[in-house]
Amino acid sequence: MRGVSERGRGYRVLTWRDGAVEMLDQRLLPHRVEYVTCADSRAVADAIREMVIRGAPAIGVAAGYGLALAALRSEADDPAGLRRDLASAAETLRASRPTAVNLFWAVDRVLAAVARPGLDSVALLRDAALAEAHAIREENARVCERMGQHALPLIPDRARIIHHCNTGALATTDYGTALGVIRAAHEAGKGPHVYVDETRPRLQGARLTAWELRELGIPHTVIVDSASGHIMRTAGVDLCVVGCDRVAANGDTANKIGTYNLALVARAHGVPFYVVGPLSTLDLALPHGDAIPIEERAAREVTHIEGEQITPDGVAVANPAFDVTPAEYITAIITEAGIAYPPYEESLPQLVEAARLQPAR
Ligand code: MRU
Repeated sequence: MRGVSERGRGYRVLTWRDGAVEMLDQRLLPHRVEYVTCADSRAVADAIREMVIRGAPAIGVAAGYGLALAALRSEADDPAGLRRDLASAAETLRASRPTAVNLFWAVDRVLAAVARPGLDSVALLRDAALAEAHAIREENARVCERMGQHALPLIPDRARIIHHCNTGALATTDYGTALGVIRAAHEAGKGPHVYVDETRPRLQGARLTAWELRELGIPHTVIVDSASGHIMRTAGVDLCVVGCDRVAANGDTANKIGTYNLALVARAHGVPFYVVGPLSTLDLALPHGDAIPIEERAAREVTHIEGEQITPDGVAVANPAFDVTPAEYITAIITEAGIAYPPYEESLPQLVEAARLQPAR
């Protein structure tokens, strides 16, 4: 299955093919376009953990297919046994990465689909799990395009934009969130120019965002993360736009490490700071960002570049993969149901309610 942004493109982020999931191996980009085939849910969990696939919405899509694979591979011969196997696979998938709430949302959604009454055979349950995984993926594309359209009035002509991490089709399987906003502005003829934060340590900006922007023909300049203040002072920046991995009820937002620094610099320069994410990235059960689990990744991501050690032996390393930007630094949060402005405790539930009345499906 090819999505909107995949038509006419030379690569596929995630494909369901012959009872398996094929993923573009994002660890090898931009120099090699190779695919990893996951034949069972454990392989999907490994691919998420190892960042073959990454980005909050894409992780959610992958997890949905992980459960579809668990249903397909289960040897259970009755619905109760199959549901037990799915519950076990769900635990494995949930343990793969902790911060992006989309993963947990997608797992819960597929489990709810197979819990529906009337599914009284193993075959029906398998169909229901796969249909829900497909639905999550297809909705993702529509939701991203809607966010892009909602954001258009916020983007001035010839906007100079700083973007952090990667939030494009690679991170969502289709179109993108923050990068989708930039893409929508480009397609609307607004002529944006993107300053691409390289995004240490995994370099999602330098490797992935620059690759996607080049494919889309959107002008861009890669900068090191610490250049944002200088660029704002010298070149001038109209806005910053980033994605999100989990947004708490008060608007505090977890996103790729370095997002908080960028938000502080933006505030110091009076530059609007926009967060873009689907409603599936909201976690309104959490009152504030301190409750968001922050993934700590291997020290080697910091101590080594391309396999070469760059630090002295035995150096102490902290490698939080995400940070939390307090809501007070966020100008607005753009979702498929519209734009939320402070106070987010009020505006976010209003958007959730609006979407409930008019779903994206
Ligand atoms: O560690 P990653 O690459 O999965 O982190 C990705 C990000 O932080 C993105 O900004 C976020 O998931 C939003 S993607 C649309």
